[in-house]
Amino acid sequence: MILTRTAADLAALPRGERRVVVMTMGALHEGHLSLIRRAKDLGDQVIVTVFVNPLQFDELTDYERYPRTLEADLALLEPLGVDAVFAPSEAEMYPAGVPAVSVSAGVIGRVLEGAARPGHFDGVVTVVAKLLHLTAPHVAVFGAKDAQQVIAVRALVRDLNIPVEIATVATQRDDDGLARSSRNVFLSAAERASALALSGAVFAAAAAAESGASLTDVLATGRAVLAAEPGVNLDYFVAMNPADASELAGDYRGDVVIAVAARVGDTRLIDNITTRVGR
Ligand code: PAF
Repeated sequence: MILTRTAADLAALPRGERRVVVMTMGALHEGHLSLIRRAKDLGDQVIVTVFVNPLQFDELTDYERYPRTLEADLALLEPLGVDAVFAPSEAEMYPAGVPAVSVSAGVIGRVLEGAARPGHFDGVVTVVAKLLHLTAPHVAVFGAKDAQQVIAVRALVRDLNIPVEIATVATQRDDDGLARSSRNVFLSAAERASALALSGAVFAAAAAAESGASLTDVLATGRAVLAAEPGVNLDYFVAMNPADASELAGDYRGDVVIAVAARVGDTRLIDNITTRVGR
């Protein structure tokens, strides 16, 4: 496994037949490893990027506190057969500081998670665009858990004609259904029990959709699960259009992403499920 720190070293890597990239901010956990295993199935050369992107943090303190664990990350990546890791410095990625030219996620970046974290998705699509240009992969793999990020990245490659295929990996869950997240470690035992209402709500909504319920009833079913759990402080429980993250309601029929965000104790959690309404 080759470790590259500069764009020049990355560009000098021999090119595989089908190069697959997995972008991360490091502090790798099982969720990332599932993306890398999928990447291995999709191509013959896997590059993992490790870069804590300052542009996607709304709070400077969150950026500074974000764990940087490159040595431990490399130890996890080597046995998975990753070909190269690109771990640039901030100066390598943003030599002039905040870039004069950047990418906007448009309205996708201003709703739901974007409303809770202003500027976050603009920062994400800017760094994803840069990393796609730098790594030039055939395929890039993202986790479906960050549904709005996937929608923003698909819009980026469509609207800016970036020649890459976007693949997704289903949300990894614990046995009881809780979506895996690096934030789960902040939950007390009681909070973790309350947090199960998030996966419970998206599963209940998907089951209602499968049994032919209208979108109004699908959403009411999920919201009832959340309302029954006092430990959950709900931000939103909505049906998102998978094309543009706009909110769907009423008698809409078609593919939807049922998405939830809530605070449990001090921890903000998200979950989602893709389903079809109006079978
Ligand atoms: O999902 C993440 O870890 C980040 O948003 C990404 C895609 C690596 C961009 O910094």
